[in-house]
Amino acid sequence: MEQEKPSMTPQQAEITEAITSNFITSLRSYKEIAVGKDAGYVSFLKYELYTLLFSNLPGIAGLGLRQKVYKSLFNRIGRGAVVGRGIILRNPAKVSLGSGVIIEDYCCIDAKGNNPSITLDDFVTISRFSTITAKSAKISIGKGVNVGSYTRIASQSCIEIEESVLIAAYCYIGPGNHARHQGNLASKEPSKPLIEREMEIKGGVKIGKHCWIGAHTTVMDGVTIGEGSIIGAHSLVKESIPSDSIAVGVPAKVISMP
Ligand SMILES: CC(C)(COP(=O)(O)OP(=O)(O)OC[C@H]1O[C@@H](n2cnc3c(N)ncnc32)[C@H](O)[C@@H]1OP(=O)(O)O)[C@@H](O)C(=O)NCCC(=O)NCCS
Repeated sequence: MEQEKPSMTPQQAEITEAITSNFITSLRSYKEIAVGKDAGYVSFLKYELYTLLFSNLPGIAGLGLRQKVYKSLFNRIGRGAVVGRGIILRNPAKVSLGSGVIIEDYCCIDAKGNNPSITLDDFVTISRFSTITAKSAKISIGKGVNVGSYTRIASQSCIEIEESVLIAAYCYIGPGNHARHQGNLASKEPSKPLIEREMEIKGGVKIGKHCWIGAHTTVMDGVTIGEGSIIGAHSLVKESIPSDSIAVGVPAKVISMP
C-alpha cells in the first residue's frame, strides 16, 4: 500500500521520492546531488573515489593530497589553496578557489540546481562548520573575506560579498521567506501548506568591502550593506544599510552615520 506522504519542501519531496523508489532512481538522484545534472558517470566515479580516499585524511598529508587531487574536481584551485578534512563537497565543478584560500575542516560547499556557481577569491578563509550553498545561484566571496565558524551563506539568486569583509560566527546570510499568499484565497481554494511553497526571491544580498558583520547576525535576501559598515551582534538586517554606518538590533536600525 502506498504510504501517505506529509507536506514537504519541493526539494525534500523530490529527494525522498527518489530514495524510496528503486536503486537506479536513488543512484541517479545521489549522482545529481554529488556532481550535478550534467556530469557523466566517469566524473561521478572520480568524485566518489577521491572523496572516499582523501576527504577524511587528517594532518598535513591530508591537506597536501587534497590540494593535488581535488584540482581535477573543482573548476579551479589557485596556488596554495587548502581544503580541510570532512568537507561536504557538492558539484565541485561549479566551484572556483583562488590562491591562498583556506576552507577549514567540516565545512559544506554545495553548488546545486541549474547553472550555480561559487567563487572564493584569493585569500578567503571559511572557518570550521560553515556552509556555502548556491541553489541555482551565483555566490561570489571577495579577496581576503573571513567567514567565522557555523555561518551559513545560502541563496537561490545571488550573493556578492566584497573584499575584506569580516563575518563573525553563527551568521546567516541570504535567507528569504516562504511565500505566504500563494493559492487563490478569493475562490476559497485551499492554499498549499507553507512548507511546500516556493521562496519569495528578492534579488540576493550584497555586502560592500570592509564591512564587519557581528556574531549571530541574519542578513535577509534583498539587502545591500554599504561598504565600511558595522552590524552589531545578534542583529536582523531586513532593510539595506548605507555605507560607513553602524546598525544594531532586531530589526537592525542605524545608530551611527559618518
Ligand atoms: C555594534 C558594536 C560594534 C557597537 O559597539 P560600540 O560602538 O562600543 O557601541 P556601544 O556599546 O557604545 O553602544 C551604543 C548603543 O548601541 C547599543 N548596542 C550596541 N551593540 C548592540 C547590539 N549588538 N545589539 C543591540 N544594541 C546594541 C548599545 O546598547 C547602546 O545603546 P544606548 O546608546 O541606548 O545605550 C558592538 O556592540 C557589537 O555588537 N560588536 C560585535 C561583536 C562581535 O560580534 N564580535 C565577533 C568578533 S568577529
